Amino acid sequence: MSLFQVYPLQPIAITKALGSHVWDDKGTAYLDMYGGHAVISIGHTHPHWVKRIEDQLHAMAFYSNSVIMPIQEELAAALNKMSGKQDYQLFLCNSGAEANENALKLASFHTGRKKIIAFSKAFHGRTSLAVAATDNPSIIAPVNETDNIIFLPFNDVEALTACFSKQGDEIAGVIIEGIQGVAGIYEATTIFLQTIRALCDKHGAVYIADSVQCGYGRSGKFFAHDYAGVNADIYSMAKGMGNGFPIGGILIAPSIKAKFGLLGTTFGGNPLACAAALAVLEVMKKDNLMKAATENGKYLMEALSNIKGVKSVRGKGLMIGFEMETGLEDIRKVLLNDYKIFTGEAKPNVIRLLPSLSISIAEIDLFLKALIEAVFQISNKTV
Ligand SMILES: Cc1ncc(COP(=O)(O)O)c(C=O)c1O
Repeated sequence: MSLFQVYPLQPIAITKALGSHVWDDKGTAYLDMYGGHAVISIGHTHPHWVKRIEDQLHAMAFYSNSVIMPIQEELAAALNKMSGKQDYQLFLCNSGAEANENALKLASFHTGRKKIIAFSKAFHGRTSLAVAATDNPSIIAPVNETDNIIFLPFNDVEALTACFSKQGDEIAGVIIEGIQGVAGIYEATTIFLQTIRALCDKHGAVYIADSVQCGYGRSGKFFAHDYAGVNADIYSMAKGMGNGFPIGGILIAPSIKAKFGLLGTTFGGNPLACAAALAVLEVMKKDNLMKAATENGKYLMEALSNIKGVKSVRGKGLMIGFEMETGLEDIRKVLLNDYKIFTGEAKPNVIRLLPSLSISIAEIDLFLKALIEAVFQISNKTV
């Protein structure tokens, strides 16, 4: 049987990983500036993470959500502390799309309303409502089409205010990434997030902070939305949460009350995933990784903006996007093939850096040196 070919694959088979490096089946090492798409938060196969999952595997791998699961409660308490969202409640699931699907559904249940506001270039996942709130018609199947999503321009305070003035009593919620990832690293402005908070309060709507990619410390704060100084009602999380072990979740404000049967899942909150997520929080705390993300991200962005051929740099912490000047479109290919460095991309020409939060300055320097050489290599070929 063949695999269903939905990914344009690099012809590289990764079979080993440690820290900020991965190795292919021939033993070639690669520097991972992509973090397996923002997933690797504390470093590949971190020893504490491996041990936490291994110990849990020996103790108990699974039971259904019909019994008390102490490790889920341990994770909720650790998340309350680390995120600073003290009274929030935790619902666990398995992926980012599922986290957003549950967040949107909950907003609708809570308000009794149908309309969701989402923004241009947003990406929220591929399940039914999450994909409908994603601004990419090519991945929305006919069955997912709905007129319940209102798309507005990103960071446009006036358009948002006008929409609420016109139909505020129909709006269940507003969903927004703190830093748009798939779009190419664009930050939501402080005034925009504050306006969302104020309008949601005024009209009784739910503010959903999609933190699947920009959350879990990647921006230097636990949630990138925190830079605006206002709280969301629901935070969705996934990618960095398990450092590669599949887990997602939503943090839910105390004003939103649970009811038996409102949400549910078979695998969400399974003990192995909880062990992985706890290991991530423990390492983040012990190694002060949010501070590291802030400092090392600043270092990396400053250095990038001084490199010849780099046109623009944006982002926060270790969620960085940069664009190259015309003629350097092949830079990612050269970095991968000649310098053995994985980077991410956003169409049409943004390079995304989403490395482990534990990446060292020496590893960052390795990347910067390779980028300078790759620019030189391409420029000399063109001449
Ligand atoms: C902001 C954002 N939300 C949701 C998702 C969907 O997450 P998943 O692929 O785990 O379903 C992604 C994935 O890239 C994302 O970047």
